[in-house]
Amino acid sequence: MKKELKYILPDTFLEKLKQIRNYGRSLYLFKLDKKRFLQNYSKKNFVNEEQLKARLIFYSHSVEKGLARENFRYYFGKNVIPELYRLVKLYKKSNYDTYNSIYLNAVSVLNQYISVHEEKRYDVKPIINVQEFKEFYLNHNFKIGGAKQLSCVDVNKNYRKNFKNLALERNSVRDYQNSSVDLKKINEAVEIALKTPSVCNRQSSRVRIIQDKTIIEKALKIQGGFNGYTCPPCLIMITTDTNYFIDVTERNQIYIDGGLFAMSLLYALEYEGLAACALNTMFDIKRDKKTRKLLDIPDSENLILYITVGNFKKNYKVPMSHRLCVNEITSYI
Ligand SMILES: Cc1cc2nc3c(=O)[nH]c(=O)nc-3n(C[C@H](O)[C@H](O)[C@H](O)COP(=O)(O)O)c2cc1C
Repeated sequence: MKKELKYILPDTFLEKLKQIRNYGRSLYLFKLDKKRFLQNYSKKNFVNEEQLKARLIFYSHSVEKGLARENFRYYFGKNVIPELYRLVKLYKKSNYDTYNSIYLNAVSVLNQYISVHEEKRYDVKPIINVQEFKEFYLNHNFKIGGAKQLSCVDVNKNYRKNFKNLALERNSVRDYQNSSVDLKKINEAVEIALKTPSVCNRQSSRVRIIQDKTIIEKALKIQGGFNGYTCPPCLIMITTDTNYFIDVTERNQIYIDGGLFAMSLLYALEYEGLAACALNTMFDIKRDKKTRKLLDIPDSENLILYITVGNFKKNYKVPMSHRLCVNEITSYI
């Protein structure tokens, strides 16, 4: 029947039918994506173990970033610390696994927050019940969370590292020297990232390298996740162009290809001896529009992420950003 119709009906009509079918499929697929996300993402009052872990990681990392700040502010996190401690208590009260590394990381981060204040005899009792925390929750002394101090030994030799060392020694660095970056190195990093695989070799990723300080400041003010750090000498915006996709089943491929490209670029920047940090572009409509206007990004392009880039300082701090173990994320089928 399908074959016969193909001969009877004109091509333009068949094309129209195909478009209608694709539109229907797109509605269904986007609805499924929406349902999966809305049903499962970690909402504030949800107490399912995985969703609680998501919040423990989120708030732990926020505190770690504060602890790693070059311009450290005592008593930072007056809202975040009570929330993180509430989650730690809730997790334990729910009888979830207290040997789990996400829980231990949260406890370790809170412990470092208390220690740095105690060292200076600053009283954090109004923010967290220190005695209760130490008595009931601090049952280990692992330093798996918090901030760590690093020294830049010789980043110009990063190109000699093997891949394992390059990947394991890379960190998101948010404080840079006050010097401009070598554009040749950034262009070479983009060239390396161009070798990133993409669906059917579509290569939809696009790169904007911003060196104008005024534009960087405006862009980061809109972005909002880099407040309190000094302006980086270079900012990169990565997007993907929807024009390069040909079917509605590819709807998420836009973000996969963009994400893969972004990760290659992060490794390539590290290889070039440059310090970098990815910044999210998970914007509401207002921030999305402002960013597009500022950087002249057409509506056909999807914002993937920013990367701040600069030269390494001699000494710098980074959040420890604890990682899960292989057996926590892997199953064998
Ligand atoms: C997509 C993406 C968005 C990110 N957004 C931000 C951000 O807005 N602000 C920030 O300080 N770090 C941001 N980061 C950096 C992460 O916090 C960091 O990669 C993570 O904690 C792991 O640490 P590491 O990169 O040092 O290994 C982002 C990273 C990714 C991959």
